[in-house]
Amino acid sequence: MPIRKAIIPVAGLGTRFLPAAKAQPKEMLCVVDKPVIQYIVEEAIASGIEEIIFVTSNGKRAIEDHFDRNFELEYRLEQKNKLKELEEIKKIAKLAKFAFVRQEKPLGDGHAVLCAFPFIDPNEPVAVLFGDDILAGKKPALKQLMEVYEKYHDPVLGLWNVPKKDTPRYGVIGGIPIEKQIWQVDTIIEKPSIKEAPSSLIVAARYILTPELFSLLQNQSPGKDGEIRLADVFKTYLQKKRVVYGVVMSEHRYDCGDKFEFIKAQIELGLRHPDMQKKLKPYLKKRFS
Ligand code: UTP
Repeated sequence: MPIRKAIIPVAGLGTRFLPAAKAQPKEMLCVVDKPVIQYIVEEAIASGIEEIIFVTSNGKRAIEDHFDRNFELEYRLEQKNKLKELEEIKKIAKLAKFAFVRQEKPLGDGHAVLCAFPFIDPNEPVAVLFGDDILAGKKPALKQLMEVYEKYHDPVLGLWNVPKKDTPRYGVIGGIPIEKQIWQVDTIIEKPSIKEAPSSLIVAARYILTPELFSLLQNQSPGKDGEIRLADVFKTYLQKKRVVYGVVMSEHRYDCGDKFEFIKAQIELGLRHPDMQKKLKPYLKKRFS
């Protein structure tokens, strides 16, 4: 079956982004002129996804409202003849078919994905995009993973090259490169020491789950911190000697759940924005040179 559905977990607490994330979802924080989550939805749509299941939680209502119509606002914009803005907000609700399911407790990103399980066909592969990672590139990042899935029909991981000294902060893969930018993964080591790290390639943000891997998630036990993580079920799958592929992404990943990465996203995406770059570039030059 082709991949038509994506799950976007957005139920995390966002502790790295407090106090901003106290009373609003971190996924709704604005980068240049739209919320972080809209970048992610647009990437999914540009990759060919038709249905999106958000896994939300208490306090994340603004995400549902953002992807719904707002008839009062539409009426007022029409009255004021603000037709460009009217089109802009109307098109958001039409981007895809959206569904929302709740994660009762923040028990990990893998647990959040599992909450969408009843809404996925047992034979259906599915994409997962984390709700706070913006990937900026010409080709939609998820599409690259989907193409690898279409070729091999096995689960696929998004991989990023990081400096070796940073590997102890992430899940690091080991394996062999089989094509340009594509690896066959044979191990994932969580937070290894620099010496233990089998490569400089880390797992993050984008995944393709096959039905078999998705059903394994149901029996995945929580880690030491009590959370069920998506990376752990890939490890379980690999322990069963099954095949997993990884795509080394060239796109920069802005982890907008992290304050510094968020600021970098504002500046770098601002410099690419057609209206903003004209003002921002000279401003930065003048102010900081
Ligand atoms: P993060 O690793 O950014 O975790 O989650 P977090 O809990 O949101 O943030 P911090 O670490 O406390 O700052 C990656 C993605 O998985 C979702 C998050 O909303 C984010 O999109 N997530 C995480 C859930 O949906 N549920 C969870 O229990 C954990």
